[in-house]
Parts: sequence; C-alpha cells; structure tokens
Amino acid sequence: MKIYRTKDYNDMSRTAANLISAQIIMKPDCVLGLATGSTPVGIYRQLAQWHQKGELDFSLVTTVNLDEYKGISPENPQSYHYFMEENLFRKVNIDRSRAFLPDGTEADSDDACRKYNQVLHSAGTVDLQLLGLGHNGHIGFNEPGTFFEKETHCVTLSDRTIQANRRFFASEEEVPRQAYTMGIKSIMSAKKILVVVSGEDKAEIVKTAFFGPVTPQVPASILQFHADVRLVADEAALSLCDIPSSGRLWSI
Ligand code: GLP
Repeated sequence: MKIYRTKDYNDMSRTAANLISAQIIMKPDCVLGLATGSTPVGIYRQLAQWHQKGELDFSLVTTVNLDEYKGISPENPQSYHYFMEENLFRKVNIDRSRAFLPDGTEADSDDACRKYNQVLHSAGTVDLQLLGLGHNGHIGFNEPGTFFEKETHCVTLSDRTIQANRRFFASEEEVPRQAYTMGIKSIMSAKKILVVVSGEDKAEIVKTAFFGPVTPQVPASILQFHADVRLVADEAALSLCDIPSSGRLWSI
C-alpha cells in the first residue's frame, strides 16, 4: 500500500483528483468505480474544473458507483444518483448510458442486486476504484461483519452509519435503513484502489483499518491484501499512524 500524506482536505482532494485524471489520460475508455459521501466532493469539483478548462475528457469513460439507498428515487436530493449528477455528471461530458449506480427504486432486493452484478460484469474490470472510509471501517455500505466474498447485496445499515448519514436528511427517521452496495469481492477485483480520508475523526479508523489485523469486523482492513492500493489522507487523518514525520509518500 502506498500512503500519500497531504496537508489538508484541499490538498487531499487535488492529489486524489490528479491520480484519477492520470488514469483517464492513460486510458480514455477506462472504467472508474466511484464513491459518494462528503470526502470525494472536493475531488469531483477539481475534476469538473479540469474538464471545463478542456484538460480532461470523460466521453469514453464508464463509471460504476458503489452503492445506493434502497427505496429512494434518483430525483430525491438524498439519493446517490442525485449526488453524482450534482457533483460530477452534469459538469463533465460523461455519456449517461455509461454511468451506472444500483437501482434504489427496485423493491425486490434480489432483482436489484442481480441486475447490478450484471452491469458490473458487462462494464468489465474496474481500472480505478475510489473509496471513502466509514467511521466503523465500512467501504461502500459493507458494514462490519460482512463476508469478504460478497458481490452486490442489500444491507441493513448499522446505527453508527445511520447516525453518520443523518446530517444529509431532515430527521433521523428519514435516513433509509437499507441500501444496495457493491460487495467486498467486487471492490477487491478492481485493478487499482484509491482510498481517500480526511479529518481527525477518522484517525482511529485509519490506524485500525490499515495497520491493524485484517478482519470482517473492519471491512476496509481487507484492502491490506490488495496489490495496488493508494491511501490519500490528510495529516489529521494520519495523526495516529506510525509513519515518518516528513515526506509525502510511503510504501507499507
Ligand atoms: C457513506 C457511503 C460510503 C462513504 C462513507 C463515508 O456511508 N456509503 O461510500 O465512504 O459514507 O462518508 P464521508 O466521506 O461523508 O465520511
């Protein structure tokens, strides 16, 4: 695993955007695995700016998102469809027929997951998978205890995740209790993985996930077994990790 220590959120966003941009420039028809949450917002802003300046072309890119709430339509501002539209898709020249998320409106979980697995299989191997990190170590919506081998599945969100995501909703009751998420097996199949983390409140989980034992209780810990992972984190998020105090890049 390679760790990039960045100064702050903006530096983290720009560094991660540079890595995604490099992927698109090297392979214009690449498959990107995308994430939601507050952490990637600055990355998407930077990518959109580069596109608007004529430096980045998304016309051949395919995207597959990690997850979507169950029971929420794409028009709902809290949906991940809406998030992606607002933060990235409408700002770049992506072909919407190549931008995929699980269908939150599909009430039949087995159908929703089967269809999304088909989408993933036909999109082909993900070249670069972007991941945020939940406070309990979740990636996508793979909560602690998820079997490592799972493909797309329906999850019941943990209380901690419901609390963490409550800030995006008017009340706690409105936070959906279930979501469809790409599984650990699908995430681990990506050629390269880019994890982004910012803030002191994530320092403990960064240490546990990347320097602690690999266990389903900390879903992100499985990433230690992937051959090409880059962790781009700011100083606050890395503050509990035992890494040299100077320099910008390490391999562990
Ligand atoms: C949500 C998403 C995850 C995301 C996580 C962290 O639960 N499903 O994909 O990584 O939150 O979010 P944030 O970046 O806002 O801390």
